[in-house]
Amino acid sequence: MNSILEIDGNIAVLTINRPDKLNALNRETIESLHDHLSQVREDRSIRVLIITGAGTKAFVAGADIAELAHLEIEGGEDLARRGQQLLFDFVEQMPKPVIAAVNGFALGGGLELAMSCHIRYASENAKLGLPEVSLGLIPGYGGTQRLTQLVGKGKALEMITSAGMISAAEAQEWGLVNKVVAQENLLTEAKALAATIARQSPEAIAHALETVRGGFEMSQKEALNNEIKHFGACFGTEDFKEGTSAFLEKRKPEFK
Ligand code: COA
Repeated sequence: MNSILEIDGNIAVLTINRPDKLNALNRETIESLHDHLSQVREDRSIRVLIITGAGTKAFVAGADIAELAHLEIEGGEDLARRGQQLLFDFVEQMPKPVIAAVNGFALGGGLELAMSCHIRYASENAKLGLPEVSLGLIPGYGGTQRLTQLVGKGKALEMITSAGMISAAEAQEWGLVNKVVAQENLLTEAKALAATIARQSPEAIAHALETVRGGFEMSQKEALNNEIKHFGACFGTEDFKEGTSAFLEKRKPEFK
């Protein structure tokens, strides 16, 4: 299996499992991840997903270079389109938070996958970069857009044009990862955050994810109107009744 899904209560961990190739993303791996992501999306009992890489060396060392080396123009476009639909956009559009636990190299498609996740934690040994121009390519799994959103145009263009890698500490300074921890604590820390998130209203979280994401596809005016719409929709949910009642009754909410 090129990916492994483990479910523990309301938290799931999805491991990209091709360690002998540094978890490089070939078609089979992307399809396997898509199947597991679909399962997580449909399973209402799962509140938060963590994505990590097998082994201690790599999160994902990029798209599989052996697989793309012989493609021509149409095949290249098809690879990017298919990957974006099945994996990268699919992760970003999940109605529940996805945390990347970046446990080593996150290069090319690996960094693009981490950037499709909503939150990123990294281990101290992680190295991040978009080396595509060293191969005569550009990032094709959303990297030109999501890196620019996360770190701004100047830093994004420095990373993309130099094909350079940055350390986990630098990535934190850049705002590319939220937190850096020792590798042995990475999953524990990611699970602790997941547990905190899992205690909040899943319906409100889904609205928040959709509203923040939508803001990148709309004008500021449309995005603020969209926020009004989603804010209003929260008032029609069971979670809103439970959250406000629990507060007034001085008890902890229990969201179903
Ligand atoms: N695609 C296909 N195979 C990959 C790969 C990728 N993106 N990244 C690593 N691998 C494979 C290697 O070919 C090697 O396979 P082999 O043992 O069958 O020869 C195995 O994974 C281990 O990698 P190796 O290069 O020997 O490890 P290293 O520690 O010397 O170097 C990296 C680690 C990450 C610096 C190096 O593997 C690398 O530069 N990878 C490509 C990164 C990249 O350009 N990604 C963007 C792709 S668009």
